[in-house]
Amino acid sequence: MSPYLLTRTLPEDATGAALRADVLHGLTRTPKSLPPKWFYDARGSALFDEITTLPEYYPTRAEREILVTRSGEIAEVTGARTLVELGSGSSEKTRHLIDALPALHTYVPVDVSESALTGAANTLLAERPALNVHALIADFTRGLALPGTPGPRLVAFLGGTIGNLLPAERAAFLTSVRGLLSPGDALLLGTDLVKDESVLVSAYDDGTGVTAAFNKNVLHVVNRELGADFDPDAFAHVAVWDRDQEWIEMRLRARAAQTVKVPALDLAVHFEEGEDLRTEISAKFREEVVKSELAQAGLSLTHWWTDERGRFALSLSTPA
Ligand code: AVJ
Repeated sequence: MSPYLLTRTLPEDATGAALRADVLHGLTRTPKSLPPKWFYDARGSALFDEITTLPEYYPTRAEREILVTRSGEIAEVTGARTLVELGSGSSEKTRHLIDALPALHTYVPVDVSESALTGAANTLLAERPALNVHALIADFTRGLALPGTPGPRLVAFLGGTIGNLLPAERAAFLTSVRGLLSPGDALLLGTDLVKDESVLVSAYDDGTGVTAAFNKNVLHVVNRELGADFDPDAFAHVAVWDRDQEWIEMRLRARAAQTVKVPALDLAVHFEEGEDLRTEISAKFREEVVKSELAQAGLSLTHWWTDERGRFALSLSTPA
């Protein structure tokens, strides 16, 4: 009996092709931007793990508090036999949920990183040897096909990562998740909440510079993968709160005019002094907004849980 299966739904070179397309598109338009998913090579993932331990970065602790407090209730309400986790990474916080689900038959972690999936599965199976783990190497923002495991299914998308999607991408994503759900299934969604600007900006511009290193890591990734000659020191880390869109933007600001070569794309990119490259949006939510975006996608909100201090929310929704 082998309870661990790994299915690759992405072609081996899909990642390289997607990176080239994203860099070409993002560096040749105004304003310049790169999608945040390219932060997460091994170093970027380690830097993110370090961010989650910083005093300024509250979302991980707030979400963990909710999971610790509410996992029993989530288990009771959903009766989940399959737990699908989108963007599972290290699956660390999910353990609370898994441990609270006595009827759980199969855990389906979905991530683009094979090493993250295998590492998380090994840790989990050491403690829950009878659990089936069917990991999927997949990009959950594209069409996702789930294995035929027993219902009810609970699809979890934690961490507030939905905030990295632009509003139109968010709508498309929620609609595609809705398409995975049958009656009796549910979506558990983590969303960071709108709060005081100074708290938000500090969370994305910490005093020790770990977030700055994380932000600049995308330049190291482009250098390594596409032979580019970005000088990370020639850019400053910037975090700004956009009060109209209600999102944090991370940017890299050129300290001086410069031209960067990207040989794999046969491209030279000019930056003016002070020009920004947007590397991430991290949208913050209000309950009404989450409820209406879910409704737009055919999902109805049934539960809304926050941490004690009201910083972060987990919502549960079911097919409408
Ligand atoms: C992992 C996407 C939830 O948006 O807060 C942390 C990533 N960026 N610090 C977030 C991140 C800067 C994080 N997510």
